Amino acid sequence: MATASAPGKVYLFGEHAVVYGEPAVPCAIERRATVTVEERADDKLRVEAEDLSLDGFTVEYSGPTDANPAVDVSESLVNAAMGYVDTAVEEARDAADRPDAGFDVIIESDIPLGAGLGSSAAVVVAGIEAATRELGVELSRSELAERAYRVEHEVQDGQASRADTYCSTMGGAVRVEGDQCETIDAPDLPFVVGYDGGAGDTGELVAGVRALKGTYDFADDTVRAIGDVVRQGEDALEAGDVEELGRLMDFNHGLLSALGVSARSLDAMVWGAREAGAVGAKLTGAGGGGCIVALDETDATETALKYTPDCEQVFRARLDSDGVRLER
Ligand code: MEV
Repeated sequence: MATASAPGKVYLFGEHAVVYGEPAVPCAIERRATVTVEERADDKLRVEAEDLSLDGFTVEYSGPTDANPAVDVSESLVNAAMGYVDTAVEEARDAADRPDAGFDVIIESDIPLGAGLGSSAAVVVAGIEAATRELGVELSRSELAERAYRVEHEVQDGQASRADTYCSTMGGAVRVEGDQCETIDAPDLPFVVGYDGGAGDTGELVAGVRALKGTYDFADDTVRAIGDVVRQGEDALEAGDVEELGRLMDFNHGLLSALGVSARSLDAMVWGAREAGAVGAKLTGAGGGGCIVALDETDATETALKYTPDCEQVFRARLDSDGVRLER
C-alpha cells in the first residue's frame, strides 16, 4: 500500500493574462489531497472517496457508470473526480509498464472541489505518485508533473494549463509563462482564503476576456498590465516585500474586475478582507464566483470574512513549500 499527498494552489498573480503568454505566479497552499493505492490481484479499479467534502460542501452521488463497469464508485463526489482518477491510473500503469495492474484507491481531500484551488490537479499528482510507488517505480518530479499535466489536458479537452499540476508537484511559488514553469523564491506567505460556495464557468470567463480583448485596445492593454503587475510581483517576492505584494494583489484584482471576471460575492470578500486590514486581497482562479485570497498575518481577515454574508467558508493556508509527498 502507498499513500501520497499533494497541495492545492492559489494564484498570487496573473490568472487570465497567462492565457495570452503573460507570466503568472500560482502558489501551493497547505491544503492537501491524499490518495492511498493498493494493488489488487485482478486488473480492476475500485475508488473510494471518504472525504472529498469540506465543511459540508458536497456533490451528489450518481452511481457507477455503464461506460466503465470495472469501476466501483462507492461514495459521493467520486463521479466528478472519476475521469481524473481513471486517467491518472492509466499514466501510472504506463510509467511502470504494467498495463494490467488493478488498484483499490482511497481519496481524501481538504481542498474544496471546483473552487479554483487546484483540487483535481492535487488528486491527479498524488494519485500518480501513490500508484507508481505501489508498483515499485519512483518518478522524478519533472516526469510526474508532465504525466499529471497530460491527465488534466486529456480530461479537460485540451484546455488545461500546466500551472496547477506543476505547482501541486513542486510546491512553493511557481512562475508560469507559456509552457515554461519554474519554482521561484518566496517569503512565508500568510494566505487567507474566502470561498463563496460557488464557481464560475472557466471556459465562459476565458471567452469573455478574449472577446473584450478583441474589441477594445484598452482591454488588450489591461491584459498586458496584469503581466506588468506579475513582473513587479516577482521582484517583491524575491525581496520578501509582503506589503508590496499586497499592493500588487489589490491592483491585480482591479484589473481582473475591469476584464469582467469578478463578481459581487468576490468583491464583497475582497473588501471585507481589506477593511479588516489584510495587506492585499484579490480573486483567485477564473473568477465569476469561487475564492479570494488575502494576505494577513493576524486573525482579523479570517474573523471579518466569517461575518461577510457572501463568504461560505474561510480558512488560513500558508504557502506550502512541500509539493507532492509520499506519506507511507
Ligand atoms: C483558471 O484557474 C486560470 C485561468 O487563467 C485559465 C487558465 O490559465 O487555463 C483563468
